[in-house]
Amino acid sequence: MKVVVTGAAGFIGSHLCEALLARGDTVVGVDCFTDYYERRHKEANLEGLHAAPGFTLAEVDLRTAPLEPIVDGADAVVNEAATPGLVLSWDDFERYQSCNLGAVQRLAAACSAVGIGHFVQASTSSVYGVEATGPESSPTHPASPYGVTKLAAEQLLDAYRSTGGLPLTVLRYFSVYGPRQRPDMAYRTFCDRLLRGEPITIFGDGAQTRSNTYVTDAVAATVAALDAEPAGATYNVGGGRELALLDAVALLAEALGVDPVLEHRPARRGDQRRTVADTSRIARDLGWAPVVAPEEGLLRQARWALGRRR
Ligand SMILES: NC(=O)c1ccc[n+]([C@@H]2O[C@H](COP(=O)([O-])OP(=O)(O)OC[C@H]3O[C@@H](n4cnc5c(N)ncnc54)[C@H](O)[C@@H]3O)[C@@H](O)[C@H]2O)c1
Repeated sequence: MKVVVTGAAGFIGSHLCEALLARGDTVVGVDCFTDYYERRHKEANLEGLHAAPGFTLAEVDLRTAPLEPIVDGADAVVNEAATPGLVLSWDDFERYQSCNLGAVQRLAAACSAVGIGHFVQASTSSVYGVEATGPESSPTHPASPYGVTKLAAEQLLDAYRSTGGLPLTVLRYFSVYGPRQRPDMAYRTFCDRLLRGEPITIFGDGAQTRSNTYVTDAVAATVAALDAEPAGATYNVGGGRELALLDAVALLAEALGVDPVLEHRPARRGDQRRTVADTSRIARDLGWAPVVAPEEGLLRQARWALGRRR
């Protein structure tokens, strides 16, 4: 299968490319190395990919580049490209709407024009809002501009599906973690600060919970979606267990062999309070379930952080 993966130099995209290549697919990665975080991290994400037979990288911006030549001839497109994170989305909306909605429209139009076989969209539990605890049919009340742009993208793609036959699957990832996690994300920041002996900032009381998804589980769900017939379905993709933030910090600190020093600050605007992924739909339709428990996943992320420091 020939798959176009956008956001290939990013955290999840780079892991997905590796998994697809490992099973013999041909992958065209697309990325423009936005400055949401430093390019050197994205270059490091690509280290295992450049030499891989079957991988090519198109360094283009989905907001401006002609996209039909890139998607023409591909069996499927997985759109991992986005401006992620909710904090910046209050201050720099343009970057969110152009990458998370405008670019998606251009990609959907190009895929429709050339007749792509499957379009898989990476979406987020943020479409649900402050609490994300129910099935996919739960009401959507995004509490950040980021979540609004991701929900709008889902709806836009569904319009392409229902009126033009775009073969669509939407995956709502619940916070993903593991090696190469984005430098702005909590567990990566915690590991780096713990290793430098610096205090960790906890926004809110630390009792907020997440059913985080280990990155190989998120990738396995994405591959399972790719291999299924596109039926216009939306799936929650989340880790199996809810974990409080303070418990995650304790696990990371233990794995790194340090005592954490905590600094509490008020919760940030739009921060999610509780996420518990109800993954019964994807289990039923695609036979996917998360397999990496939080203790194991956090240990692997801590080891990766230690390895980077050496
Ligand atoms: N990481 C998570 O916990 C998480 C949770 C829910 C949803 N998601 C979604 O998963 C996807 C991947 O997230 P990630 O954490 O790997 O983010 P990431 O920032 O590491 O990767 C996204 C990549 O997309 C690229 N990109 C952005 N805009 C582009 C454009 N206009 N043209 C070309 N490339 C562009 C960036 O340069 C980056 O390399 C995103 O759609 C995000 O919304 C992530």
